[in-house]
Order: sequence, then C-alpha cells, then structure tokens
Amino acid sequence: MYRTHTCGELRINNAGTEVKLAGWVQTLRKFGSITFVDIRDRYGITQLLFNESLNKRLDETPIGREYVVQVVGKVLERSNKNAKIDTGDVEIEVSDFAIMNVANIPPFTIEDETDGGDELRMKYRYLDLRRNPLKHNMELRYKVNRSVRNYLDAQGFWDIETPFLIRSTPEGARDFVVPSRMNEGQFYALPQSPQTFKQLLMVSGYDRYYQIVKCFRDEDLRADRQPEFTQIDCEMSFVEQEDVLNIFEGLFKHVFKDVKGIEITEAFPRMTYDEAMWHYGNDKPDLRIEFKIQNLKVKNAYIEYLNKGEKSKMFNRDISFTKLCSLFDGTDFKVFNDADTILAICVPGASEYSRKQTDELTEWVKRPQIGMSGLVYIKCNTDGTYKSSVDKFFSEEKLKDFASFCGAKSGDLIMILAGAETRTRKAMSELRLEMGQRLGLRDHAIYKPMWVIDFPLFEYDEETDSWAAKHHPFTAPKPEQVELMSMPDRFGEIKANAYDIVLNGTEIGGGSIRIFQRDLQEKMFAALGLSREEAYEKFGFLLGAFEYGAPPHGGIAFGFDRFCALLGGQESIRDFMAFPKNNAGRDMMLDAPSALDEKQLKELKLKVNI
Ligand code: AMO
Repeated sequence: MYRTHTCGELRINNAGTEVKLAGWVQTLRKFGSITFVDIRDRYGITQLLFNESLNKRLDETPIGREYVVQVVGKVLERSNKNAKIDTGDVEIEVSDFAIMNVANIPPFTIEDETDGGDELRMKYRYLDLRRNPLKHNMELRYKVNRSVRNYLDAQGFWDIETPFLIRSTPEGARDFVVPSRMNEGQFYALPQSPQTFKQLLMVSGYDRYYQIVKCFRDEDLRADRQPEFTQIDCEMSFVEQEDVLNIFEGLFKHVFKDVKGIEITEAFPRMTYDEAMWHYGNDKPDLRIEFKIQNLKVKNAYIEYLNKGEKSKMFNRDISFTKLCSLFDGTDFKVFNDADTILAICVPGASEYSRKQTDELTEWVKRPQIGMSGLVYIKCNTDGTYKSSVDKFFSEEKLKDFASFCGAKSGDLIMILAGAETRTRKAMSELRLEMGQRLGLRDHAIYKPMWVIDFPLFEYDEETDSWAAKHHPFTAPKPEQVELMSMPDRFGEIKANAYDIVLNGTEIGGGSIRIFQRDLQEKMFAALGLSREEAYEKFGFLLGAFEYGAPPHGGIAFGFDRFCALLGGQESIRDFMAFPKNNAGRDMMLDAPSALDEKQLKELKLKVNI
C-alpha cells in the first residue's frame, strides 16, 4: 500500500495515528538539526517533520523539490498552526521515508504565483498543471461537465457520439484536413461542429441529443479561441425557439447553482440583434457596463427606420431624424458635418479627466486596431459648466443640447466618435468596453447573462460581393419571411430564429431553429451561391434525409471552454484546457504540428511544396 491517507486529508482528530503518505516535495526548510518538508498531491499539502535522527539520513540521501517521496510517521498536533491550509493543525513526525523518484530542478517555480513565462509553462504543461490555479480550473471544468450531464440527462437528452473523420461542415472557419491513405488523393475534414450529424439524429427520431464534443476550426486565435475546443452540443425535435431558450436558460441556471452556488431566479434579458448593434455596437453586449451608445447621427440602414418614422425599439428616444440632425445645424465643424455616423457615450465620473488622460484616450482611438481619426469630448463639469475639445465650433448652449440629448449627467465625460458607419460603430463598441475596463466595471464576480435574438439570416460579404449565412446554412428564416428567400434584393431584411447566449460580453453559445424541408434548404444553398450540383455534391446526404420524414427541429451549442473560463472569472480559455495550443496554433509540449517523414508522405501520396 503506497499510502493510508492523501496529503489533504489529515486533521487534528487524526493526532496520534501512524500514517503513510506519498506525494511531491513542495518545499524544504532546514532549521539546525530538524527539517520541515511540505508534501503535496492533488488533495492538498501536509507538513512533515524530519527530526534529528532522520535528518542524518536526509544528508546522505537528500531530497529536492518535486521529488516523489513516501513517508511513514505519526500525526502530531502542530504548535505553530497554519490556518491557510486544511491540514494546518497537524504535522507528521517522520519515522521512515523512501524516495520513489528524483526530479530535475523545475524550469519555473511550482507555486500559485510562478515566475514562468507563457511559452515555458506550455512546454512543461504537466508541471504547470501541478500548480493550484490550474488544478482548480481543471476541477471546475470537471464539475461543469458533470453538472451539464446531470441536467441534460434529467431532461431526457441522450449522449450520442458522432465521427471526427468527416466532410467539411460549414461553420465559417477553414477546415483542418486529414489525408486518407486508403483513398488516394482524398481528404477527410475534421468537424467544425457536429451540426449536420445532430440534425440527422433528429431525422432518426432521437428527439433530444447532446454531446460534450471536440470541434476543430482553423481560424485566427484569440484569448477565447482555440483551434480545437469543446462544445456542449444539443439538438431537439418538435421545438420552437421559445422551447430551446427555456431548456438552455435552465441549463445555465442549473450549472450556476450547482457549481458556483449562485441562484439566478429572474429570466435572462432578451435583446434583438438590431437593438444590440444600436445600443452596444456589437452582438454580444457586456451588460456590466450600464452606459449605452447614443446615436446622434446615423446614415446607414438604420436611417430607414428613421425615415419611415417607425418607433423602432432601437430608439432610446422618441425623436425624429430631423431633430437628430438639428443638433448640428448652423455649425461648421467639418468632422461632424461630413460624417456618416456620430456616436457618443456618457462615461460617469470621468469629467474630471485631465488633459493628459483625454490626450491619451485620443491616441487610443487612433490606434490602427480602432482606426478613428480623433476623439471629441465634452466635459459635463460638476459646477454646471461644459467644456469640450471643440469649443471653437460649439457654443456652451449647443454643448448643453448635446449633453441633454445624450442624457448626460453632471460629472459625465461625453466621448464622441464620428466617421463611416461600420468603423465608427465598431470603434465605439471598443471604446465603451475600454472605458468600462478603466472604470473597473468589468468585474469578474458579476454575472450578466442575456439572449441576443432575431439575428439576420444572411450577412453581406463585401470582399466576395456575395451573401453568406450569418449563423450557418441550416438556419431557418422566420416563417413569415420565407417568401423573401426568392428576392435577392431583400435578403438583407430576412431575420432568423437564431439566438446567442451571451455572458459578460462573451458569446458562450449560439443556435437556431433549422430548415427541415428539402426545397427550402435548396433555396438556401442557392442564395449562398451554391449551384444545385455543388449543393448535392456537398450536402446530398442531408437533402436526401429531408425526404424521409424530417421533423421540425432546432438546437444550440455552448462553448464549453468559454463557459468554464467565465465561471472561473477569467477571459482566456487556455488555462481551462489541460493541453492548449499557443497563439500560433502550436502545441509547445509536443512541438506539433511537425513535418511528416518521407515514408509517411509516400504512403499518403503527398508532396510538400514549400
Ligand atoms: P457556433 O459556431 O456559434 O455554433 O459555436 C458555438 C459556440 O462555440 C464556441 N466557440 C469556440 N470556443 C473556443 N474556440 C473557438 N475557436 C470557438 N468557436 C466557437 C462559442 C460559440 O458560441 N453548430 C452551431 C451550433 C448550433 O447551431 O446548434 C455552432 O457550432 O462559445
């Protein structure tokens, strides 16, 4: 028997018992003729006391950090208790020990705070995983996994595996491909998601499917993107959007309660895609930041609503387009007069920003990633005066008008960006997040989940001058808009029963109600520019299946890694995966990807041409 207890198990009531422990040496502290050693395993840390007689043996056979040791000894009450660890009331007076394995000096300290850089820690990931922060993340991930399975099992979902060696699934990224030795010159694609399989399982009549499954996407990496990541992938039959939202809002709440002990009773707010873009400038609003984008002047598609005089929900004010523009009447500030779009945010408490701070923010919006030519600001001073970077062009009266239109309060700093619609909206979305960050509003301990609904079915790709599916090509248009599918000039108007679940500004899940009739699916492929032949060549299996009794169905997939990271209070998903890749898509530990040897290339009939 290697051990009687783990390193996290012993308490004061074990005092006096003989125990055997095994684990890794965390630290050694020599005090004259005695030595204290902390021994660690997954469960915790226990202090060992090597007294005088054993100290001699320690000199002959020294032990070092990360050695694997086994000790026998008696549990004693500690005189100097350590309240920070669970075993802090006791120590083991060692009577015998054995070194089970030696260890090199680790390349970085294996402590909660380490001195190792990212790449080094990834190269020695197995050592990094010994550290508490990562261990806690792995534990959290396991708990979320278990909680998800329990919930979905109770709701009647079956876990069904689907293959990895498949044909391409169009989720918007590039495929990773695998050459087939048995089928010369042909390649499998790794699934970007199990999308078509889960739909086929609905055709098979399995009604409720789920899988916690790896997906593979060759796309540019960011903190919340990895080339292989995990989805909680689900599909249901005979459901409408409302049914899917209810079940998965339930899943979210269940996991929060189960894993975090947080009970969320109220329904998640729902916002249309248009509202999200209008008020937040993106389709994943971070609701921890309360201030929204104020639309001062808008020239693109939104103007249609304005011109039609529709009181769209997008308006935070009941005001006509004429009134909007009149804010700028009689001024000769070219930046505003020439701009397609003028947007503002009112940042609370920031009217006291110094010139240095506003200059720095101006530089911030001019960075290439943001791409604006400048920043206009108005300080709504607490003494009732207004001061701006454009005092030359606007009277204080006018500034007051601005402030009142924006709903600014005393002490606010109004930040204004003007330019072309898409760029300005995106920049304002970033500026809002940046200001939220600077004000400390993006607190990881606050959770603001929400649904974004009514996504457009299509999005126009300027580069290729064609329409692409906003979610994926299996998403159904709103039933009342099906006839627009034959009118390409109106594609931009079509909305889908497609939805995203968003938490603190991160999209953690997305899904839709699907097309389940062959002719509509054919129309969709045609709209995306696929000829009938191409559609049948690529998706004949699905179109065929739709001729054998496909039920209405819909589903969703959660980004499991993102969900775990947010539950763990972090934005980067990397440390919630045991063996992640770096930003260049490399596994630093395996040194993958790597070249194939000649023999393998020959077998696969492949030639590398670089
Ligand atoms: P979608 O492409 O929106 O939908 O993906 C679902 C969720 O997966 C997560 N995600 C990622 N996480 C880490 N790294 C990545 N590279 C990455 N890409 C996506 C996100 C996202 O919300 N088949 C559809 C689902 C459906 O329609 O049911 C799909 O895959 O959190």
